[in-house]
Amino acid sequence: KGDASKPADAAKPAAAQKADAKEPLKVGFVYVAPIADVGYTKQHDLGRLYAIEQVGKDKVTTTFVENVPETADAERVIRQMVNDGNKLIFGTSFGYMNYMQKLAKEYPDVKFEHATGYKTAPNMTTYNIRFYEGRYLAGMLAGGATKSNIIGYVAPFPIPEVLQGINAFTLGAKSINPNIQVKVIWTNAWYDPPKDTDSAKTLIGQGADVLTQHTNTSAVASAAESAGKMVIPYNSNMKSVAPNAQIAALVLNWGPYYAKKMQQAVDGKWDKTPVWMHYSDGALSLEGITDKVPADVVKKMEEVKAKLVKGEFHPFTGPIKDNEGKETLKSGDVMNDKDLSTMNYYVDGVIGKVPN
Ligand code: GUN
Repeated sequence: KGDASKPADAAKPAAAQKADAKEPLKVGFVYVAPIADVGYTKQHDLGRLYAIEQVGKDKVTTTFVENVPETADAERVIRQMVNDGNKLIFGTSFGYMNYMQKLAKEYPDVKFEHATGYKTAPNMTTYNIRFYEGRYLAGMLAGGATKSNIIGYVAPFPIPEVLQGINAFTLGAKSINPNIQVKVIWTNAWYDPPKDTDSAKTLIGQGADVLTQHTNTSAVASAAESAGKMVIPYNSNMKSVAPNAQIAALVLNWGPYYAKKMQQAVDGKWDKTPVWMHYSDGALSLEGITDKVPADVVKKMEEVKAKLVKGEFHPFTGPIKDNEGKETLKSGDVMNDKDLSTMNYYVDGVIGKVPN
């Protein structure tokens, strides 16, 4: 029988113990924007820090690169991460997809994880959050708070994820207030603060009194604050930027996912199944609801949220019509993931046409 009070290695010389100890797993993060105080990249970085705490500094060591464009630069940066010994690499922006897939084929002993895309490889998976679940709830609050019945939406690129958000938000808003209209301005950038500011000002000029955004900055929240309007920021809680204007915030929480995947990689049990997380996974939270949202609307939203979390409510439940009157989902049907993933239209209530 061994002496349980002593670790088995206690008798070994220090040098041998050291050789036994595994080096921490090197993990790389590729960011499209600066981390900044709030925003999309900040949320990924909070997730990275959370994961280190959970998994342990002796088990993982991380690096990140900010401001990586969705061009061949991404390939260069990620290749450098591989050369630096990173064995697990998280690419956090949609436009890294093809570069990551190419590199995954070149470096089969490195694990690649791509946020928000749809391409994979034997050593590359995807992860994402069903943002549209939170968007529906946020839309309910916006529909309840607006006085002008015009809601402004600053959007980056017309990819299905962003259209899911616009449409779920609009459906939520219309469920409270059938008279609302959602006006969208496309910036064609994830991170362009001046464009976000200009877009927000334009929407306010068009009568919007509640704004939201899918872009990565806090500029829309800031513009709402300056103009004395309301805002439901996306990505982060932006109370620091918009203490009066923010009436709620839809916050993304990537930490538990990063912790789980780093732990799996450390344990040699990395799972390459693509995941699309739900509100109920703790990946989303609607925070900081103020009394500018009528109490009865908050109550209705809480009821819908409770159903959503139990899997009893899907934001895209028919009948759904596009904004040209065409039925896109039959009454009573629930939209399947394939139709969600190829969404390319505006629902009734959104003004204008989706850019090509
Ligand atoms: N890259 C930066 N921000 C985003 C985002 O919100 N969604 C996707 N798909 N990619 C991004």
